[in-house]
Amino acid sequence: MKLSGKVACVTGSVRGIGWEIVQAYAEEGARVVICDLHKADVDGALARLSLPVEKVLGLRADVTAEKDVGSLFRAIKKKFGKLDILVNNAGFAWPREGPIDLEVADTPFQVWLKVLDTNLSGTFLCSREALRMMRAQRFGSIINISSPQGKLGRALRGPYCAAKFGVEGLTQVMSLENSSHNIRVNALDPGGIVATEAIRKIPGNKGKKMLSPEVVRACAVYLASDESIEVTGRSFVSSEWNERHRIEVPYMTA
Ligand SMILES: NC(=O)c1ccc[n+]([C@@H]2O[C@H](COP(=O)([O-])OP(=O)(O)OC[C@H]3O[C@@H](n4cnc5c(N)ncnc54)[C@H](O)[C@@H]3O)[C@@H](O)[C@H]2O)c1
Repeated sequence: MKLSGKVACVTGSVRGIGWEIVQAYAEEGARVVICDLHKADVDGALARLSLPVEKVLGLRADVTAEKDVGSLFRAIKKKFGKLDILVNNAGFAWPREGPIDLEVADTPFQVWLKVLDTNLSGTFLCSREALRMMRAQRFGSIINISSPQGKLGRALRGPYCAAKFGVEGLTQVMSLENSSHNIRVNALDPGGIVATEAIRKIPGNKGKKMLSPEVVRACAVYLASDESIEVTGRSFVSSEWNERHRIEVPYMTA
């Protein structure tokens, strides 16, 4: 198993890509920390994982709230005494309640702030806490979930592009600042639209061919494990990485 002995925290992990990564890490022997916005969802995910209590921790935490993030990392330290892997996954292109697909000229400031806060400030707040723990233990891997829109602008995605370009930049800075502490920081872009439950529910997506959520699993395990011990400051496209490693890239229809 590639992650035995490791402790991994994945934010926004009760569904979608975060949930896929948590399952992959647990299957590779890691002790896992689940966190998301609502306690009932966290409890449901813990029940679905059905791991022994010493192998899992589930907490309600909003990654945009400094206080919640502080409590989350204190709880990780108390239970496991360390953190080897942080995946900053919590994020979205638009708030769940909408509105969506707006030009910058029409974007309300509140929508802008919410998208920036979750994708970018959440990544900053969780990384800052993780770096403090990882520097003390002189080991760690941080993986920031990015997007194709973190590298190429797309119309009607103003706040999301700004946030994910920010995530890519923050990844490079944190990598430079922490390699002497033996901490690696990389970005992981799934490589296209991943057919998560939320995305499949969007009426316009019905029948569309998309990447299966499984597409990020192998690459997320690689970046967390000692196989990538010398890799930092890079941005991976998981669908391309899978193809290069001859792992079949699964597709599904929404
Ligand atoms: N699905 C895709 O096509 C796709 C493509 C590229 C990148 N991404 C990125 O992958 C990540 C996950 O996307 P997904 O499609 O699985 O989303 P999703 O909506 O299915 O899951 C996101 C999870 O994050 C949680 N979350 C949202 N705000 C939070 C907060 N403030 N604190 C804690 N948890 C919070 C949600 O409750 C949810 O459980 C995001 O960063 C997204 O930008 C997704």
